[in-house]
Amino acid sequence: MAEDLTIVRSTDKKEQYLSLIPQIEALLYGEADLIANLANVSAALKEQFKWFWVGFYLVKGDALVLGPFQGPVACTRINKGKGVCGAAWEQAKTLTVPDVEAFPGHIACSSLSRSEIVIPIFYNDRIVGVLDVDSEELDQFDQTDAQYLEQIVKLLQF
Ligand code: SME
Repeated sequence: MAEDLTIVRSTDKKEQYLSLIPQIEALLYGEADLIANLANVSAALKEQFKWFWVGFYLVKGDALVLGPFQGPVACTRINKGKGVCGAAWEQAKTLTVPDVEAFPGHIACSSLSRSEIVIPIFYNDRIVGVLDVDSEELDQFDQTDAQYLEQIVKLLQF
């Protein structure tokens, strides 16, 4: 496909995800390189939603290590159970944090981040990484984001 996205300028999140998901499928189609695919997925999400930070941390041994992302520079390693990312990994479930300052142990890679969602990525019944999204606004993520972001990470082949 052409390497440009059609961006829906709607305030309806569901409409935005429904436009984006087939385009992500097309970007991933026929490409086996993980780094290339993670890079394009983070770029596509950033372009559609204009979030502050969107990217991947990958499980390497007993830590999550920074992978492809879009946004400001970020912490490179997060131990299991630490921060929102490490907690999502340990608890093996999506965590939605409306106010990061109210989350015990939140890791502030940037003081500008106010709310966050972290989706663990399951592959062959193991967690291989997480998708982390940060917003500069409070309370930006809900069940719609959880549902569609979980659907998006299932498209990835590790
Ligand atoms: N806030 C995350 C750390 C990663 S950065 O937001 C990119 C956390 O608490 O795990």
